[in-house]
Amino acid sequence: MEADVPPLDAMHRLKELYNFILLCDEAHSLLSIGTTGRGCLEYWNDNHPDAQVPSDLIDIRTATLSKAIGGIGGMIAGKAKFESAIRSHITQLRQDGGGRHWVHPPWYRQRGFSASQHSSRAACAV
Ligand SMILES: Cc1ncc(COP(=O)(O)O)c(C=O)c1O
Repeated sequence: MEADVPPLDAMHRLKELYNFILLCDEAHSLLSIGTTGRGCLEYWNDNHPDAQVPSDLIDIRTATLSKAIGGIGGMIAGKAKFESAIRSHITQLRQDGGGRHWVHPPWYRQRGFSASQHSSRAACAV
């Protein structure tokens, strides 16, 4: 892992051209980079005063609590228009076996959690 922040100004131009949805996995950046720990976009704007990108460039962000916080679980944050789709996908994941998709067994065993505890603790906040 190189810890590079992508060229968000170029992504912004591409997004305007092709109108795609931009999802950013901030597992390694949330609470770690940017003046206030808000991740890639804040870091980019902190360091590129001449190539600022809008604060709503990223449509959906995912992050884990297992890195900067040292906790368990994760989060999804994004524009309101995605909320029902994300909630319904999470509901479907739970019905299909839920947390099994996200379990890292050795990690949980080390911390004394079982897989069944994980599925309730891994609920994503939208
Ligand atoms: C880029 C990235 N996203 C998400 C995750 C998921 O983290 P966890 O399963 O510890 O919550 C990881 C874990 O290493 C990661 O590197």
